[in-house]
Amino acid sequence: MAKTILITGGAGFIGSHLVRLLVKQYADYNIVNLDKLTYAGNLANIADIENNSNYEFVKGDIVDTDFINELFKKYDFDSVIHLAAESHVDRSIESPMDFIMTNIVGTTNLLNAAKHTWEGSFKDKLFYHVSTDEVYGSLGAEGMFLETTSYDPRSPYSASKASSDHIVRAYHHTYGLPIVISNCSNNYGSHQFPEKLIPLFINNIKNNLPLPVYGKGENIRDWLWVNDHARAIDVIFHKGKNGETYNIGGHNEWTNIDLIKVICSVMDEKLERPEGESEKLITYVTDRAGHDMRYAIDATKLQEELGWVPSLQFEEGIRNTIEWYLSNEEWLTNITSGDYKEYYDQQYKNR
Ligand code: NAD
Ligand code: DAU
Repeated sequence: MAKTILITGGAGFIGSHLVRLLVKQYADYNIVNLDKLTYAGNLANIADIENNSNYEFVKGDIVDTDFINELFKKYDFDSVIHLAAESHVDRSIESPMDFIMTNIVGTTNLLNAAKHTWEGSFKDKLFYHVSTDEVYGSLGAEGMFLETTSYDPRSPYSASKASSDHIVRAYHHTYGLPIVISNCSNNYGSHQFPEKLIPLFINNIKNNLPLPVYGKGENIRDWLWVNDHARAIDVIFHKGKNGETYNIGGHNEWTNIDLIKVICSVMDEKLERPEGESEKLITYVTDRAGHDMRYAIDATKLQEELGWVPSLQFEEGIRNTIEWYLSNEEWLTNITSGDYKEYYDQQYKNR
């Protein structure tokens, strides 16, 4: 069935992979990509599909109520897949207000516009909210996050995402707005902004810079290939049940330090450096404030009800990812010049 779909944040890391997948897979969908192009948004991420006839880019801010209302008047959207967000925990610790505005106010603007436009008949409409496992808080050595796990967000970022999840559910319960929410674990892959652990460390190794490991490097994350996240969103968008939440994860837990050692080893090989050379760059620095210890997702519901399973093993995925950053030097250089340098100096100066 032909559809017009608004995707927000489609110039970012996950959004660009999702836009590419949907544009290529569904010729009869009209995909409108709305993005403010903050420091994290980059049209180069989707340059390969920008001329497709079923794709359109609109630059704009989800916090701007009038702009959002006009956009919904202009396009007859059938669905929204909402990814636009401030997404980096360290930045949320430094500047929480941007997170409150985009993640909470921006999400509410979109909900209001969708509700107003679709009121009268919600039939075949859907507001899909893309969220994170960080809303569930931090695990000890045992257990995994289920869809029923109580919310316990602990950083300004996760609190802003938890807040937006609650508001999305409130619009479903109060007004009957058709919604689905997914909460995913850490993503890795190409086109990720190099403030996040994996691309930051690849870039630092390449440039012989210190690798700033927070605390003892014992924190655990559950890593999923970004294209598998995009595939999960596709499945949930088409087959998910109205009002439901789905956890997405890779059953792939790593302590930061073990993951970093894998990256170091593959980088030694790729850069033809002596074995052990990159590990010498590891530098233990002051821990992240309020650093969550462990995340682990139980994605059984998604697997059993909708048939999604991850397609790529981590060992292969991390090698492909490293190769991508090494062979896309121009992408990395463009991003790490200018404002990025200022951010990097500021973020790591007192650690
Ligand atoms: P990202 O930071 O790479 O991209 C965010 C995009 O949103 C950028 O293109 C940016 O320009 C855009 N944006 C930011 N503020 C905006 C605004 N006010 N108006 C319009 N556009 C705006 O983020 P990401 O890692 O791709 O994450 C995408 C979504 O997935 C987020 O909602 C995030 O919470 C969620 N998520 C991320 C991960 C992960 O590991 N990266 C895991 C689970 C969930
Ligand atoms: O779990 C999903 C979340 O994963 C998403 O919702 C967030 O948008 C995404 O940024 C990510 O959050 P994390 O805080 O887990 O990702 P980050 O890459 O910033 O850090 C991963 C781990 O590495 C974390 O334990 C902190 C540590 N770290 C990070 C950086 C940037 C370091 O030790 N040193 C660093 O310099």
